[in-house]
Amino acid sequence: MTESKPLVVRSVAAMRREVARWKAAGETVGVVPTMGALHAGHLSLVRSAIAGCDRVIVTIFVNPTQFAANEDLDSYPRGEAADLAKLAELGADLAFCPNPDEMYPDGFATSVKVEGLTEVMCGAGRPHHFGGVATVVSKLFIQSQADRAYFGEKDFQQCLVVTRMARDLDIPIEVVPVETVRAADGLAMSSRNVYLSDAHRTIAPVIYKTIRDVAASVREGQAPAAAAAHGVEALKAAGIERVEYLDVRDAETLAEEWPEGRAARVFIAVHLGETRLIDNVAV
Ligand code: PAF
Repeated sequence: MTESKPLVVRSVAAMRREVARWKAAGETVGVVPTMGALHAGHLSLVRSAIAGCDRVIVTIFVNPTQFAANEDLDSYPRGEAADLAKLAELGADLAFCPNPDEMYPDGFATSVKVEGLTEVMCGAGRPHHFGGVATVVSKLFIQSQADRAYFGEKDFQQCLVVTRMARDLDIPIEVVPVETVRAADGLAMSSRNVYLSDAHRTIAPVIYKTIRDVAASVREGQAPAAAAAHGVEALKAAGIERVEYLDVRDAETLAEEWPEGRAARVFIAVHLGETRLIDNVAV
């Protein structure tokens, strides 16, 4: 009998039964945590997982605890049937699509907090956000018992947070960062790009251009703060009014200064209308 892929399961128990079967056969397991609305960036994570593991789980769960009351939880793009069709095409083995009650049953009272890394950049603007991410991702890691987990570098701070969380909690999983997928004009793929008006979509590629320019200036010896200030001016001139942050930071610790020879990155968050977009590049 041929298995139909992906097998869609909604309970932790059902996912664990499958994983136990795979592990008994000596197979390695990769997990790709997502909130659905799958785009080319997610599909590249799934392809990396398929290349690196015998079995691949994709989780689809719009996690309420990482949204604040005034954010876009209710309007966040959802489309399970289309997502499952894309996963079938790629050949993912299992889609874990839990209901909120499966993830957060009555009386749920635990949260995971990663200090330091979560207090700057996206964590400063969205103070509740990384607590929700670390809590749900630690659950997904423990529930799936995967050997490797695949995350996009577009959310670089998230990659650092979940890597530190897994290390600190001794969860035996390797976090694998995967390069950002971009549209032809450089805009990083994001589920939130669908919110952009035509006018904002036309402006949006300036985000990537600007952070590349800032990275080049820092490489050429300009002080990071001055390079970032020029970047903000360029963004404003291009029509981006609200720059939440444009920072050059240590790529490991996110500190504003880094020792000679250590990697740094340029990080950005801007608002175009109601849409918040983030991106980053290596210096
Ligand atoms: O990056 C995302 O889509 C989410 O933050 C994640 C990792 C799936 C946790 O809900």
